[in-house]
This record gives sequence, structure tokens and C-alpha cells, in this order.
Amino acid sequence: MAANPKILAFAGSLRENSYTKRVLKIAVEGARTAGAEVTEIDLRDFPMPVYNVDDHLNKGFDTNAAKLQDILSEHDGLLICSPEYNGSIPGGLKNAIDWASRKSDKFGVVEVFRGKFAAIMSASPGSFGGIRCLAHLRGVLSIMYVNVLPTEIAVTFVGEKFDADSEEMTDEKTKKILEGLGASLAEMLRKTHGEIEIATAE
Ligand code: FNR
Repeated sequence: MAANPKILAFAGSLRENSYTKRVLKIAVEGARTAGAEVTEIDLRDFPMPVYNVDDHLNKGFDTNAAKLQDILSEHDGLLICSPEYNGSIPGGLKNAIDWASRKSDKFGVVEVFRGKFAAIMSASPGSFGGIRCLAHLRGVLSIMYVNVLPTEIAVTFVGEKFDADSEEMTDEKTKKILEGLGASLAEMLRKTHGEIEIATAE
């Protein structure tokens, strides 16, 4: 059993000082307090072309996609907070997941996702908190054999829950819930890591 679960945290937004990045940070702190080792990455640091099978075959596996695969492979859990773009997850997030899911020199199809546990969140200035993207994100992760925790959090009216542009969440109740989700993922990994086998059709 792993003493220190390893979690990779990233947001679905590429925007600097994005709300979803700030919301994610709170769940990250909750996971750390619960004893997890958390690596935070920004998808801005992994720019990739839009996935195209022909380009993949002709030009090879994208370098940044390979770096993302390496990092994913080193972690047991995923903490993801995504904005909702037109009722779904942003194209940039989906593109990064699509690249990382493909076969490369080092990893097989969905190998870097299979069997991991994930906790998912969304945030929006609107009254639904981006909740519609969570069903899509859950579906995408599930098809790659990621176990997504049943609890998910959509932070509504997110602009009113931070002190201006700071990372300080002023809504204590939401902060506690987010910290709790991060801690739940750490706990789940502590209970399960190394003890489960995911049966797949392949
Ligand atoms: C949005 N936004 C948005 N919000 C929402 O609640 N539901 C939606 O369907 C959409 N659609 C959408 C599409 C596009 C292309 C953009 C750029 C924005 C608003 C979105 O929630 C807002 O910009 C957030 O601030 C994005 O999160 P970050 O970048 O602050 O993390």
C-alpha cells in the first residue's frame, strides 16, 4: 500500500489566473493536508497540435504529448477542475487527453490513464457552475478506465467567491467542500492503490 499517494492536478483552462486554476488549488491543498504528494501542472506548458491521425503517423508522437504521458504515468490519481465551454469541456483539455491516450513509443493506448482514480470539479461565473461539463469529463475519463469519485463539485458564481484576482477564496463553505474532495481522493488512493486490478475487455 502506498504511504503517500501521488496525485497530478491540472485545470482545463489555459487562461492565466483562471478561476478553475484557483479552485483547483484549494482541492490540491486538501489533498496535501491529507498526506498526498501533489504535482501541479499547467496545460499551457504542453502546447500540442490538434490531434490528427495522419500527422501522428507521418510526423511521429508530439513531444509535449509524450512529456504529458510521462508525468501521467508517474501518478496514481488525478485532480481536475475544468471550465464549461458551450456545455462541454474545452477543446484544449480534450485534445491533451486525446493525445495522451494514444499509443506512443513508451505507452499503449490509454495506458497512462487506466486504473487511476480521479476527482473532478468545475467552476463558472454563472448559476450552473459549469456542471454540464462534468458529465462529459466523467464520460471521457471513464471510457479510459479511470475511476471517477462519485462526488463532484461545480462552483457557481465563482467570481464572487474570490477576493478579486487573488487566490484567496472568501467563501469558507465552498473552500471546505473543495478541500474535502481533495482529501477524499487521497484517502481513496490510500485504500486502493496497489490492491485493485481493473478488468477490461482488451
Ligand atoms: C464560456 N463560458 C461558459 N460558462 C458556462 O457556465 N457555460 C458555458 O457553456 C460556457 N461557455 C463558454 C464558452 C467559451 C468558448 C468561453 C471562452 C467561455 C464562460 C466560462 O465559464 C468563463 O469564461 C470561465 O471564467 C472560464 O474558466 P477560467 O478560464 O476562468 O478557468
